[in-house]
Amino acid sequence: MLKLFIIALACVIAGLVCSIGAPTRYAAYQEVKQLDPAAWGGDHAGKPVPEYVHGDECLFCHRNDIGPGWQKNAHGVALRQAEDAADLAALVKTPGAPTAVAEAGYFLGSRHHIRFLKKTGYGKFAILTTRAMLGPDRKFQKWADVEPPLWDNTKFGGRCAGCHTTGVDAATKAFSAFGLDCYTCHGVVDLDHTKDTSLIWLSKKRRKETLAITSICASCHLREAKSRSTGLPYPNNFVVGDNLFKDLNVDFSKADDQNLNAGDRHIYRTVRDIVVNGADVPSCLSCHQIHANTSVKHKLPPRSPICFDCHNAEGPLKNTKPYTVKSALCEY
Ligand code: HEC
Ligand code: HEC
Ligand code: HEC
Ligand code: HEC
Ligand code: HEC
Ligand code: HEC
Repeated sequence: MLKLFIIALACVIAGLVCSIGAPTRYAAYQEVKQLDPAAWGGDHAGKPVPEYVHGDECLFCHRNDIGPGWQKNAHGVALRQAEDAADLAALVKTPGAPTAVAEAGYFLGSRHHIRFLKKTGYGKFAILTTRAMLGPDRKFQKWADVEPPLWDNTKFGGRCAGCHTTGVDAATKAFSAFGLDCYTCHGVVDLDHTKDTSLIWLSKKRRKETLAITSICASCHLREAKSRSTGLPYPNNFVVGDNLFKDLNVDFSKADDQNLNAGDRHIYRTVRDIVVNGADVPSCLSCHQIHANTSVKHKLPPRSPICFDCHNAEGPLKNTKPYTVKSALCEY
């Protein structure tokens, strides 16, 4: 509260000073315009996880439009049962594999790093310390953290579940479905959407509510943020349509942190531009198409500071600045 008051006071003073000193006026104007990200809407922190229609049911009807791509989508394969992960099955038999990996019934990750999980109860996984690193072709490259391979019974619920499974109860830290269900982005779906698609989030008719949609993607993609109510590194029962920032405490200065890899930094920047600076574009959806699994649209917006997270400010755009995605939270 006090902090907000001081910021408000500083803004008023800055405003006064700048109405005298014209050249710095623009910067001060931006300062005053800053929005409170938590100002709109409501949330479900501390409430029970709502009932929702499960992905199997969605895919029964959407098997032709969404089904085929979903099995190749990073979200669709983010956490899989061993029997649905033919591409990874050979991993456990790789020479040098710790014997513990053969006990895994589930795999986490699909593109660069794989972690091994086994079920320990309703909505609970134990996670193995060992990680498999994949090459650019997504083939096994090498083992990491093999000495010694240990099963940890509490880490997954306390540190990972909120972004790698669906419908986590913040009190018990148990998930309601493993993997990322349609619910995580489309929310509690009204089956009448078959007649009126404006009833469902992210339908063609429902992609303009930039603030709420940014909350959806940010609910998993702002790594290192913390829930105010639980202290956990993931949101407390975020439901699509909620304002994520009522409960999630985010350090937006990471958008300027040149030590943060560009993969995570451009996400912080996009979210800050929208929820703090009141911009409408570019949003995650201006550049990413989830089901088409492409970011080709990103080449269209005009050059702006977000482009320089990955491209040089001058010269041809075909030059990109190389970056490696790393995360202390995700342990890679
Ligand atoms: C419930 C958590 C969650 C939500 C919500 C979510 N993501 Fe993700 N996203 C992930 C995870 C986890 C991965 C990495 C999956 C993996 O490789 O294991 C990922 C991967 C991605 C990737 C990389 C895909 C690739 O193939 O390289 C993009 C781009 C992305 N997400 C964009 C978005 C956008 C845009 C939204 C909002 C519409 C969104 N995500 C919502 C968790 C989420
Ligand atoms: C705040 C949400 C969040 C939490 C909590 C979280 N992750 Fe992640 N994780 C993500 C997102 C988002 C990605 C995709 C990032 C990207 O590729 O840019 C990801 C990616 C990963 C990947 C890499 C997948 C790949 O192949 O590229 C691994 C492995 C992983 N997480 C493991 C973990 C583990 C283990 C924990 C708990 C110790 C954890 N994560 C906690 C959001 C989270
Ligand atoms: C990571 C977030 C995310 C998840 C999870 C997700 N979707 Fe989507 N969905 C989107 C976004 C964003 C759009 C808007 C178009 C796009 O980006 O592909 C969309 C669009 C759609 C559309 C409309 C497609 C069109 O032609 O415009 C359908 C149907 C759909 N999703 C079904 C599903 C089903 C079924 C599931 C679960 C198997 C699912 N989605 C899971 C984010 C997600
Ligand atoms: C009984 C069959 C049925 C079920 C179950 C179902 N859908 Fe649909 N869905 C439809 C039909 C029919 C439409 C309208 C025609 C179309 O655009 O595909 C539609 C439209 C959509 C759209 C908007 C497409 C657009 O044109 O913009 C999305 C998004 C979507 N469904 C997602 C889901 C998700 C997520 C689930 C599960 C929670 C789900 N659907 C369950 C039949 C179904
Ligand atoms: C100005 C366009 C633009 C915006 C806005 C944008 N992205 Fe990206 N993003 C990209 C491009 C381009 C890539 C690199 C894609 C590639 O390598 O194919 C990327 C990469 C990613 C990755 C993968 C990082 C990795 O290499 O593992 C994730 C995850 C992601 N974006 C999520 C998001 C989310 C969530 C938002 C909204 C908060 C967002 N992006 C906003 C253009 C954008
Ligand atoms: C997260 C990183 C990321 C961001 C942010 C990003 N780009 Fe890119 N961009 C890439 C990567 C990686 C490629 C090369 C792969 C490809 O073509 O998708 C690329 C390719 C391009 C190309 C094609 C160049 C060529 O000649 O082949 C254009 C044009 C482009 N980006 C424009 C933009 C603009 C404009 C912005 C800002 C609105 C932007 N990019 C933001 C990563 C990014």
